Amino acid sequence: MADKKPFYITTPIYYPSGNPHIGHCYTTIACDCIARMKRMQGYDVMFLTGTDEHGQKIEKKAQEAGVTPKAYVDDIVANFKKLWARLGISYDRYVRTTDDYHIKTVQNIFEKLYKDGWIYKSEYKGKYCTPCESFWTESQLVDGKCPDCGRDVTDASEEAYFFKLSHFAPKLKELLLDEEKNFLNPKSRVNEMIHNFIDPGLQDLCVSRTSFTWGIPVTFDDKHIVYVWIDALTNYISALGFMNDTYNDYEKYWPADMHVMAKEIVRFHSLIWPSILMALGEPVPQKVYGHGWITFGDGGKMSKSKGNVIDPFVLCDRYGVDALRFHLLREMVFGSDMPYSNEMMFNRYNADLANDLGNLVSRTVAMAIKYFDGTLPADKEFTDADTDLVSQLDALQPVVSDTFGTCRFSEGLEAIFKVVARANKYIDENEPWKLAKDETAKPRLAAVLYNLLDAVRRVTILLTPVMPHTAPQIFEQIGATEENTGWYDSEKKYLLPADVTVKKGPVLFPRIDVEKELKELEALAPKTEEAPSDLEPLKELTKYDNFAALDLRAVKVLECEKVPKSDKLLKFKVDDGFGERQVLSGIAKYYKPEELIGKTLAMIVNLEPRKMMGFESNGMILSVKHGDGYRVIEFPDSVKPGSDIS
Ligand code: MSP
Repeated sequence: MADKKPFYITTPIYYPSGNPHIGHCYTTIACDCIARMKRMQGYDVMFLTGTDEHGQKIEKKAQEAGVTPKAYVDDIVANFKKLWARLGISYDRYVRTTDDYHIKTVQNIFEKLYKDGWIYKSEYKGKYCTPCESFWTESQLVDGKCPDCGRDVTDASEEAYFFKLSHFAPKLKELLLDEEKNFLNPKSRVNEMIHNFIDPGLQDLCVSRTSFTWGIPVTFDDKHIVYVWIDALTNYISALGFMNDTYNDYEKYWPADMHVMAKEIVRFHSLIWPSILMALGEPVPQKVYGHGWITFGDGGKMSKSKGNVIDPFVLCDRYGVDALRFHLLREMVFGSDMPYSNEMMFNRYNADLANDLGNLVSRTVAMAIKYFDGTLPADKEFTDADTDLVSQLDALQPVVSDTFGTCRFSEGLEAIFKVVARANKYIDENEPWKLAKDETAKPRLAAVLYNLLDAVRRVTILLTPVMPHTAPQIFEQIGATEENTGWYDSEKKYLLPADVTVKKGPVLFPRIDVEKELKELEALAPKTEEAPSDLEPLKELTKYDNFAALDLRAVKVLECEKVPKSDKLLKFKVDDGFGERQVLSGIAKYYKPEELIGKTLAMIVNLEPRKMMGFESNGMILSVKHGDGYRVIEFPDSVKPGSDIS
């Protein structure tokens, strides 16, 4: 037999700074679905996931918890692994950045890049928050303040090593624009990378720190530890044995076929990672896929720090692992964000799984038992009335292979369920219950049921990577076996034995009572009043004059756009009733510029002008903390710009 073709797919390595949540589940389930499909297609698959365990945040969390950083992450990593087991994640290798072999690889790579002149020593200049002991870049600040604690920051510098990222700008552009290679998906992210990062000028990357210690030491300068991206990104090759002796799979699996992640780290994978590899003289990955976020409530990325995160264990226990896998893959449109909603999950479950697929299987099996005692007769009469269903089934496999293989799961599942619906319609068109009343119509009845069983076999094969726990149960009910349930068997009609025997099984997808379940889940959610308060303590009393000195007005937003190179700042032109002025606000994460144009907002108009990212800000737009984000304070349209707020 010819050697199997290798296929290498990776999730990001997650930060074990908190327990895994539904957002992490999405990427991991997506990769699992692809890995399972590729295995079914005959590839030799390496599916890698893991955890990114170093850094200041984890050092601090461990300190707060009174344990060592390693003990802290060990606990959380155990929870990640427990969740992956519950979700049926079929990873082949789990990399931890605290593993010895990974540390060896990172140190070797750092040394090599230094020796080859790609890394040099210089000074890191940034904004420093003393209480948080953290450096921030200008663009990370919120309204010029520390994004973590909101306090003032000061200019500070520390000695650091830098990677010559700027050198790679032309090559990166070439890579991103190579139509044939199609390196970064979806396409919209290519423009984002070029316009937001490459064209404005790539800066060299700071790759070491001296201000904290929880990291991999630089071998030739031990007051430095390797900072973030060289440590994290390298996992994809350390886990194959690149520059270490633990594994020996680099030749076989590198370059990776697919790195999958959400949009916020596409930049690191499509700019920094290829540059590091180019500097090492190694091939770049084949493809990078950046999906959208599962969002929660206020439109922000669901964060580990929120109390109201949906517990994936609870969802699996109540509705089944495959229902959760199906929901996430069916609803998330590749590239777009998906607001999380249990209600949406229940409605889709009832429509697609309980009604369409579940009913198709149970009706078909029940009729085979009722009319033929479970075993179909060999004598069958096929007619033209079968052609449409069969030809729809014939066309399905390539569509699913293509869509699943490029992270477009919702499209693939939509195509599958269209055929499931077609099969249900076929029952209504052929009315088996009428055929059963006529003895001479038995061969036709047998053909109708056979067509239905074969349709179930063919769609279920394609659903196996999405629903690996349910598919075998369906196969058992319809009398399908290993012989006729391989991936490409879905392309071929009538592989079930002519005298196939069915077996009644338990209900696959019991209907969900939406109202009742929503209430019960709500009752299970952590009560907000019991959650620890994240409110700022009340400030000391102040004189009325201090308040009166502030000029608070309603202003109308005339123009609004993102500040280039900043993921925090929006630039506004507003009408303050007396004229137009420019003001900046750090709310880009919570609003699209076009959402704010035309709105009447609250603003302090007499603050001294301040420069941020090279733009002058004349005043401050007021907003209120909401969840992990901020919402602007809005007035009705009829409020005149310039109106006094008191
Ligand atoms: N440690 C880095 C990644 C280094 S990879 C070399 C990191 N970790 S993370 O824990 O923050 O995980 C980010 C990734 O988790 C996202 O890119 C995405 O794959 C997944 N998700 C986390 N929250 C998510 C959502 N709310 N929605 C969708 N995916 C999410 O960044």
